[in-house]
Amino acid sequence: MSNKNCRVCKKEIDELMSFGKMPIANSFILDKKDKQFFFDLKIGFCETFFTFQVIEIPDKKKMFNENYAYLASTSSVMKNHWQELGDNSIKNYRLNKKSFVVEVGSNDGIFLENIHKKMIPHLGVDASKNVCDIAKKKGVNVLNAFFNTESADNIKKKYGLADLIVSTNTMHHIEDINSVAEGMSLLLKDDGVIITEDPSLKEMIKKNSYDQIYAEHMYIWSLASMNSLFGKYNMEIFDIENNFFHGGCSRYFIGKKDKRPISEKVRLHEKDENSLGLKNVSTFKKFSKSNHKSKTKLSELLKKLKSEGKKIVGYGAPAKSTTILNFCGIDSNIIDVIYDNSSTKIGKFTPGKSLIKIKHSDEFRFEKSQFCVLFAWNHKEEILNKEKNFTKNGGKWILPVNDIKIIE
Ligand code: TMP
Repeated sequence: MSNKNCRVCKKEIDELMSFGKMPIANSFILDKKDKQFFFDLKIGFCETFFTFQVIEIPDKKKMFNENYAYLASTSSVMKNHWQELGDNSIKNYRLNKKSFVVEVGSNDGIFLENIHKKMIPHLGVDASKNVCDIAKKKGVNVLNAFFNTESADNIKKKYGLADLIVSTNTMHHIEDINSVAEGMSLLLKDDGVIITEDPSLKEMIKKNSYDQIYAEHMYIWSLASMNSLFGKYNMEIFDIENNFFHGGCSRYFIGKKDKRPISEKVRLHEKDENSLGLKNVSTFKKFSKSNHKSKTKLSELLKKLKSEGKKIVGYGAPAKSTTILNFCGIDSNIIDVIYDNSSTKIGKFTPGKSLIKIKHSDEFRFEKSQFCVLFAWNHKEEILNKEKNFTKNGGKWILPVNDIKIIE
């Protein structure tokens, strides 16, 4: 047991495992000699509020700053996904020119640009200036700030209460999550709706996708833990949808308590979570053991291929790859180069001890290596479809987590 406390309920937390010294996952570096920040990546589980969380979190300014590397619009599939969420929300909640939509963690405006095109009043809030600048160029109204009770109060005074608050792939990024949930409750109309979407704990446990865990992913949420958090502020989840994005996400529909009936889908999801043991620390102890097995399997596979003289490259440098590379001890002696299409990563090196050069994915078509590790495994269909020539030329893809294997 550790003496660390759950950030939501403040009770003592069960420490599960350490991934060892890790850099900030998105801190891609320009020069191999650049000084890097490392911290001990440890995870824990709270049996009171059922939150799965990273125990010690680096200072938020180290993670979310003017150089934030993750650009949501790098995937066309994700663009469609958020357009659909916008279209459905406009229809379901009858949003119009008198409504007010707030997005917490608006990134490069991937969701709000569609709301803006429909002339619906909106505000995106994001802590990273570079992504706010991109969103502004799309015409999106943004506030470069951390969302909390204070900024929520300021927004309320300036714009009024919100009909819809959306937060996608952000709830797992915010240390002071109580302040976010409380801020949302202050800013939401009585009959308003909050929609959040984040990687699902259920899917992470099912797939053993430990690469979801890194400094910026300080929580992996479940229905049970989200209900505990929002329950503190008199709100509840009334509906849920699951999708396969980011390796499996849950979309939660949250409203003020007793305003809407709880859907059957929520009941079913709750049952699924209970049968997977997502309220028991023993489940997460098993998960921790499996992570060590995964590490051995991947590093042995890559070392074997390398000893046979094979050339290995990587595809996609998501934040997830930082956890895999550093936990498994994979560096530029094993993987020559990683291809990625994010302007914020190209020409840089992967963080930590891995230090692998990142090249533009347009150059991948010239790649003659025998193996390619698909670090962006959650975009498998989109990438394999786009890069058919690699397979045609005899190249083989390797999946680095879950069912670690060479795709034949
Ligand atoms: P994500 O899993 O966090 O969305 O990150 C995916 C990474 O993979 C991101 O750095 C962009 C990169 N990527 C490509 O290089 N090509 C692609 O076709 C896709 C979908 C992603």
